[in-house]
Amino acid sequence: MRVLYLSPSGGLGGAERALLEGIRALRSLEPSWTIGLISLDDGPLIRELRSHGADATVLPVPEVFAAAGESGRSRAATLLQLTRGAGPLAGYARAFRRAVRAWGPDLVHSNGIKTHVLGAWSQPAAPLVWHVHDYLSSRGVSARLLRHHRRAAALVLANSRSVAADVVSVLGRGTPVDTIYNAVDSGRFTPQGPRIDLDALSGLAPAGPGVVRIGIVATFARWKGHAVFLKAIAELSAAHRFRAYIIGGPVYRTGTASQVTREELEALVQTLGLKDRVGFAGFVEEPARAYRSLDIVVHASTEPEPFGLSIAEAMACGCAVVISDAGGAREIGEPERTCLGHTPGDVTDLARQVSRLLDDQRLRTRLGEAAGALVRERFTTRRFAESLRTVYARLASAHCRV
Ligand code: GLC
Repeated sequence: MRVLYLSPSGGLGGAERALLEGIRALRSLEPSWTIGLISLDDGPLIRELRSHGADATVLPVPEVFAAAGESGRSRAATLLQLTRGAGPLAGYARAFRRAVRAWGPDLVHSNGIKTHVLGAWSQPAAPLVWHVHDYLSSRGVSARLLRHHRRAAALVLANSRSVAADVVSVLGRGTPVDTIYNAVDSGRFTPQGPRIDLDALSGLAPAGPGVVRIGIVATFARWKGHAVFLKAIAELSAAHRFRAYIIGGPVYRTGTASQVTREELEALVQTLGLKDRVGFAGFVEEPARAYRSLDIVVHASTEPEPFGLSIAEAMACGCAVVISDAGGAREIGEPERTCLGHTPGDVTDLARQVSRLLDDQRLRTRLGEAAGALVRERFTTRRFAESLRTVYARLASAHCRV
C-alpha cells in the first residue's frame, strides 16, 4: 500500500506531531508500506519523517498563501489575503496536482485545511482522507471552501468526538466522519527519565529546593491563552514558592493576527510584576523532558480545544494538569479524577485551581498517577496505527470495487 500524506506545515505543531506519531506507529505495524509526504513548507517534520524512511518532499507554496490563516483574522481580511494569493496559487495548484499524481498513491491523507483544498483540486486517482484537527465552524472561509469540496473526501477523520460533531454541523449530515484519538508514545512520555534545566534555559537564577514549577506548553496561537495563564499566575499568593514557565514558540507562518509574540508576553510579565517568577524556555525539541521538569501543567486555551495533545502528553508524564474544561479536552481528562478543570478564559478560576495544587502535593501525586494510567490505556500508538490501517484498507478496497 502506498500512502501519501499532505501537510500544510513542516513545523511541529500539535497536528504535525499527531501525524508523525501515527506514521511512526504505522511503520512498525506495516513495515512494507510505502509512506510519502508532500509538505507546503520545510521544517523539522520533514527531517523526522525522512529519518523514518518516508519519501518526504517540500513543494514550497507562494508566500501569500503560506501566510494566510483564519484564526484571529476577520473573514474580510482572510478573503483579501486569499484573493491576493489567487494568481500564484493557480500555477502552484497545477504543480501540486502533478506531484500527487506522479507519486501514485493508493490513498491520500491530508492533515490540514490548505491541503484539504489542494488535495481536492488535485483529484487523485485514490481515496482522499481529510484529517480535521480544528473546529471548522470557527473558520468561516475555510468552512465554506471545504463544504464546496466535501464530495472530494472519501472520509473525514476527526481528532475528537467534539470535532466530529462540528464537522457534521459544517459539512452536513451525510458527511462520512470517523473519530480517531491521537496517540501518546508511552515509551517516550514517561514519568521517569531525563529532565531539562528550565531556569538555565530561561536565563533565570537557580530556583532552589522546594520550588513548585508551573508551566504552559503550547504553540503561540493566541487562543492558547498565554495571557490568561500569566494573569492567573499573578493572582497566586506570593507566599507560595513557585516559578512559572512559558514553553514553546510560534510554529506557523500566519503572523501576529493569530499568534502572540514573545515581546508581547514579556511586556505583560513586566506589567504584572512577575519578572523574577516567570521564565521563557522557548521551543523544546523533546517535550517529555519539559513535562518531567514541571509539577503542574496548565492548559489555558480560551476557546474549546479540539483535542489537546499536550494535555495527554503531560498526563502521560505524570504531571498534575489543569485543563480548560471544554471541547475535546474533556474527552482526555476528567476533572477531579485525572486532572483539574477551569472555565475557559476565567483567570480567577484558573488561579484557584492552580492554588489547590500548589497547596497539596498529595493531590498532585494522586492526579498525576491516575492521569498516567489513563493515557497509557486509552491513547496508545498501537490503537492509533490499527485504526488508521483499518480505515485505509476499507477505503482502498471500496475504491478498487468502484
Ligand atoms: C491541533 C488542535 C489540537 C490537537 C492537535 C492534534 O493542533 O488544535 O487541539 O491536539 O491538532 O490533533
